[in-house]
Amino acid sequence: MVAAGAATALAAAAVIAGLGLGRGGSSSSKQQAFRSGPVVLGAAFRGALAQSDPTYRAQLLSHGYGSLTPEYEMQMDGLEPERGIFDFVHADEAVAFARAHGMRVRGHTLVWGKQLPRWVTQPAAKWTRATLLPVLEQWIRTVVAHYRGLVAEWDVVNEPLNDDGTLQPSLWERVIGPDYIRLALETAHAADPAALLYINDYSTEWLDAKSNALFALARRLRRQGVPLGGIGFQVHSNTRTPVIQAQLEANMKRFGALGLRTDVTEMDVDLRSTRGSERSKLRAQARIYAAAAKACASSPTCETFTTWGFTDRYTWLGTAAQPLPFSAGYAPKPAWAAIKSGLDRDRRRNHV
Ligand code: XIL
Repeated sequence: MVAAGAATALAAAAVIAGLGLGRGGSSSSKQQAFRSGPVVLGAAFRGALAQSDPTYRAQLLSHGYGSLTPEYEMQMDGLEPERGIFDFVHADEAVAFARAHGMRVRGHTLVWGKQLPRWVTQPAAKWTRATLLPVLEQWIRTVVAHYRGLVAEWDVVNEPLNDDGTLQPSLWERVIGPDYIRLALETAHAADPAALLYINDYSTEWLDAKSNALFALARRLRRQGVPLGGIGFQVHSNTRTPVIQAQLEANMKRFGALGLRTDVTEMDVDLRSTRGSERSKLRAQARIYAAAAKACASSPTCETFTTWGFTDRYTWLGTAAQPLPFSAGYAPKPAWAAIKSGLDRDRRRNHV
């Protein structure tokens, strides 16, 4: 584990930049723990496409991404299809691709109520805390240990909250209880003490009941000494409920003050509900990307800005949603320029 105190030395800060701020820092070291370089741009990607589709691969490699997130390869349904039987082939290929091209990998995702294998959702005998907790622990331990030293950031708990701030009643929450979050983080930390461990959620960009509840949860975990290292702001957005830069910034600031990284992890902007000309829709989308990119650039604890894919050709929302910075034909959209200039810290400094 990186000692947070080391971040007070500039040279050391540069060395640990790839791993973030460390954990459990004093407030003085937190304030001095600045990002040492520009924000790293990231994208979710599909390993199979990177292998089979030369155009996809070439495009993915040509835009300066420094971090990749396997879009589905690390979900439990694919990795542990039968109890105790792990199939790492596709996830390994995705990780190897990213690393072969000098990119970091965000591990996504260990504990989520979705993408679960059938043996978990339809067990032969009803789960109890006593039977399900060892399943969770073995799963986390096996996967995190497998990627120790290769995956420096893990979305350990995905989407734990409802919009009103109450806990999402996933199988894990219902059967194990609310402390599944703490237990998951502790198990992941034991398997790779150097990895930065995240809670990752959507609709947390505003100042409202959900982000307040997430903040209370994060503060409680940090006070208890639980190894939470970051908050992932998914930022699945659209033009009806756009990003409000000041609110996202305020969230990054308050979570950052707990000693946490505050990264944008899955951004896209769904245009299906947007009316108007193509041109005006793309400009509205670019403004939303710009708001998030600027919030990240203005926040020392936001080190990575990841979009959930990069081309409208391949997105979980369907091509008609046009949610990403490149068109289905790989042409840069206004959103791409907005992200690039929004993340440019020097430009921000000169213009703010
Ligand atoms: C979607 C992915 O795009 C799919 O490939 C996956 O199989 C299902 O989910 N929040 C998340 C992501 O954390 O994992 C989701 O991704 C989008 C919403």
